[in-house]
Amino acid sequence: MTSPRHNASAPAQPSVAPAARHPAPDGTLVILGAGGDLTHRLLVPALYDLACSGFLPDDFKVVGVSLEKQTTEEWVASLRARLDAFTRDKHAEFYTTKISEETWQWLASRMTYRSMSFVSAEEMQTLTADIAGRNAVFYLAIPPRFFEESVVTLAKVGLLTEKPGVFRRLAIEKPFGTDLETAGKLNAHLLSVMKESQIYRVDHFLGKETVQNLLALRFSNLLFQPLWHRDYIDHIQITAAETLSVEGRGAFYDATGALRDMVPNHLFQILALVAMEPPTSLKAEPVRNAKQQVFDAIRPITPENAVRGQYIKGRSGDRIIQAYRESIGVTPDSITETYTALKIELDTWRWAGVPFYLRTGKGLSNSVTQIIVQFKQTPLSLFHTEDGQPQPPNRFVYNIRPDKGADLHFNAKKPGPETNISEVVAQFRYEKSFGSLPNIGYETLLYDCLQGSASLFQRADNIEAAWRAVDPVLRAWAKDTKPPEFYTAGSNGPAGADELLARDGRSWGPLNNIKK
Ligand code: BG6
Repeated sequence: MTSPRHNASAPAQPSVAPAARHPAPDGTLVILGAGGDLTHRLLVPALYDLACSGFLPDDFKVVGVSLEKQTTEEWVASLRARLDAFTRDKHAEFYTTKISEETWQWLASRMTYRSMSFVSAEEMQTLTADIAGRNAVFYLAIPPRFFEESVVTLAKVGLLTEKPGVFRRLAIEKPFGTDLETAGKLNAHLLSVMKESQIYRVDHFLGKETVQNLLALRFSNLLFQPLWHRDYIDHIQITAAETLSVEGRGAFYDATGALRDMVPNHLFQILALVAMEPPTSLKAEPVRNAKQQVFDAIRPITPENAVRGQYIKGRSGDRIIQAYRESIGVTPDSITETYTALKIELDTWRWAGVPFYLRTGKGLSNSVTQIIVQFKQTPLSLFHTEDGQPQPPNRFVYNIRPDKGADLHFNAKKPGPETNISEVVAQFRYEKSFGSLPNIGYETLLYDCLQGSASLFQRADNIEAAWRAVDPVLRAWAKDTKPPEFYTAGSNGPAGADELLARDGRSWGPLNNIKK
């Protein structure tokens, strides 16, 4: 007799992602930019976390490369100091009460610091001995202006040359170019010295458990599948709002703006995961192909469907936020946007006629990254709420932060002799279901890069298709000398963003009454 778990109607077993129960392969992580913030704040805490959970191999080494003159001991001490700081910050993503001495020593004993210039072939040559015959991942934790030169240097001294059984990979962070043309050039440049399969283009949003879970949510639950369609969905909203101002990044931000900083990368990754067709497996190519279909289907965005705003002085809680134009590094008459909202249309059978509204900004009333899937109204409203309103349509709210989890809003009859409908909420919270685990968001990215699992990383054409989609807006804005619409810091953003939806008879989900 067929076991019920293996009957004819059981799903076929495609090649699934390996259940990550074994350590990464032996090898060396070479961090270029070892003295910087990314290394201290994210990479090394993630390594520590991987070490705690046993995902690093015994034969693992970390080589930190930076210009700064310091010894290995001094570098290790500065990394440890940053890790210790997490134990004093209850609000840190990686908050942990205690650093395990044993695990830290395990990791620290595998670390070496090399003071050298990553654009000097002569100096970089000395790394050859460090990684001779070993697998290696080169992590570019350096300013983007050094990307091309450092990769050329690595290639020139043969550090990127793979041999049978020995891999050499490159992990590269955003910003990956500043528009379609520069991204294309950077891709061409990288691909002139190494193969696509060696390049791991990092988007840190994909390191977030909540973002990775979008795939699981959509494709491990048949429940959502039939409803995830233009027949049932009215529209989708994707929000990444921050209370933070540009802080110390004025000069970078003024040359970048909210659109380049957040849309073709982070928000489009979420868009792709929400809109993509089921991939045939969780391997890199099927996942990337499915994402590419989404990017290719984005109808050219017209300037009328793109709002840009800039914050002026305001208040967030008890904090006064200075006007963007008064930030250090920002030109006093800057027209760079600190907020953008876009209406995106996808020309696919599944999504034709279903707008995706995206918004992101700084200096807003709340920090929230969220997806709202707004279902259509029932064909006939048989029920009413107590105050005589038609039954509200269903809504699925997926919280990437702060309240990681999801809420399904649906209707129920309110107890009593009258037939009144009231909206109720079924709630999933990560912390309640899985407990609270320290996670810096780079653990999976580093592990996957060492493992050679590229599903969470962007392929060259993914990056370029995303830039191509926002290109019409960037070009239109480049010609527009008018200042963006001003909004008060601490508010919900510019009125134009509300008008964008109001034009279609819709409105944004609330920003400021969401629990922090
Ligand atoms: C970065 C942007 O890529 O993402 C920042 O450059 C932004 O401006 C940040 O604040 C948001 O990431 P997270 O993980 O804090 O939501």
